[in-house]
Amino acid sequence: MTVSSSLDVIRRRVSCRTYDGRVPDESTKERLRAFFRENTGGPFGNLLRFELIDLTEAERAELKLLGTYGVIRGAGLYIAGAVRKGPRAMEDYGYGMERNILFATSLGLGTCWLGGTLNRAGFARKIALEQDELMPAISPVGTPAGKRSLTDRAFRFMAKSDRRKPWPELFFDGRPGNPLAKEHAGPSAEALEAVRIGPSASNRQPWRVVREGSNYHFFLQRTPGYDKLTGVIRLQEVDMGIALCHFEAAAREIGIPGSWKEARPAFDSGTWEYVLSWMKSE
Ligand SMILES: Cc1cc2nc3c(=O)[nH]c(=O)nc-3n(C[C@H](O)[C@H](O)[C@H](O)COP(=O)(O)O)c2cc1C
Repeated sequence: MTVSSSLDVIRRRVSCRTYDGRVPDESTKERLRAFFRENTGGPFGNLLRFELIDLTEAERAELKLLGTYGVIRGAGLYIAGAVRKGPRAMEDYGYGMERNILFATSLGLGTCWLGGTLNRAGFARKIALEQDELMPAISPVGTPAGKRSLTDRAFRFMAKSDRRKPWPELFFDGRPGNPLAKEHAGPSAEALEAVRIGPSASNRQPWRVVREGSNYHFFLQRTPGYDKLTGVIRLQEVDMGIALCHFEAAAREIGIPGSWKEARPAFDSGTWEYVLSWMKSE
């Protein structure tokens, strides 16, 4: 399998809920594990750890019903992980886990973020989750089946998974409320597009980005009440980490200079919560 460019991989990624039943071979598993060993932190510096969870036949049968509420079919291997509790832990987990997802995608494997239709207890035991850690989400990893299950198709239909919000709702120039047209985004158009096509919980796409000169400020527009369901696990903050991961991967590839900094801009962002900025290096 050839390793493709980050932009190609980001474009190719799609949630897969139906697998062919086989577990990836040992050399593929080792490549994933080697990647996890290096993937231990996000832009906010919280400690991450990831593991491959190989399920026995019995566990697969049990988890099909209990662990993923029947949403995932035919998967025997999962990527699970933990982040040390701390400020911005969710964003860092989103960033790190998405790096794993993109790496798996580059190997030709299917994945699916699971943070809602997931019974955490079983998986948490498997990775021996510590008191001071959280396991925000996991993903199956394997070869996609030829045909999507009915549940898979129903899920995609309900979440409108093939659609994304248009540019004027997500990207702004100078200040919120002033849409940034793709034609005026220059080389950063590709990096912002990489954010736009990313996965998000229930496909809510809570990311908002304001360009200010050569800098890009990332904000979270929360869906009211959305994260109540999962308590301390805040999936829309995980979504923000995914957006940071996609932007950075694309920016590095295209050559948009910068690095992550906390640099809250002066303008009033209303209900949007400031997260982080990609700032051009001086
Ligand atoms: C943080 C997060 C949690 C998610 N949780 C679930 C889940 O519990 N069950 C599920 O079937 N899909 C889940 N998804 C997948 C989204 O529904 C999916 O990414 C979105 O609909 C867009 O579709 P796509 O990934 O195929 O582009 C989750 C995605 C993210 C980013």
